[in-house]
Amino acid sequence: MRSVLLAMVLTLAACAQQPPKNDSLYRELGEQAGITRIVEGMLLNIAADPRIVRHFENIDIERLRDKLVEQICVEAGGPCTYTGDSMEESHKGQNLTPSDFNALVENLQEAMSAQNVPMPAQNRLLARLAPMRAQVIDR
Ligand code: HEM
Repeated sequence: MRSVLLAMVLTLAACAQQPPKNDSLYRELGEQAGITRIVEGMLLNIAADPRIVRHFENIDIERLRDKLVEQICVEAGGPCTYTGDSMEESHKGQNLTPSDFNALVENLQEAMSAQNVPMPAQNRLLARLAPMRAQVIDR
């Protein structure tokens, strides 16, 4: 049920225009400190996820943490600048599949739930990340 809903959210979001940006989502995610806890929680979940952990074994995990925090802050309308590589560039050669993408999203959802982020705010963030799906998969 959860994955059906997730697929619907991602499909709808990919078809919709980018939602207007303001900083209310940034506040709902707990600003800089909350976003950092969410990203670190997601990375810990990934470390325990046999479906995708292999992708993260030989990388600079602190850099990834910092770039993800920047990116989520920007997408949530927060006062940040993204200084990382493009989505195409950073996922090139990983041959990521839709299942890999869904697994990462599940780990993100669990991290947000653990931080008591309300479900509408969770879905707003997922809808803002959904347009990046095509830039990440099959590169
Ligand atoms: C919407 C989905 C995703 C977003 C927003 C995202 C975001 C990012 C960002 C911001 C970086 C850092 C770029 C840099 O270092 O400058 C990155 C790198 C990376 N991502 Fe993703 N990512 C997504 C999906 C995935 C998936 C599904 C996987 C694997 C299952 C994945 C694996 C990686 C790995 C391994 C790196 C490090 C690459 C390296 O340092 O060589 N990502 N991603």
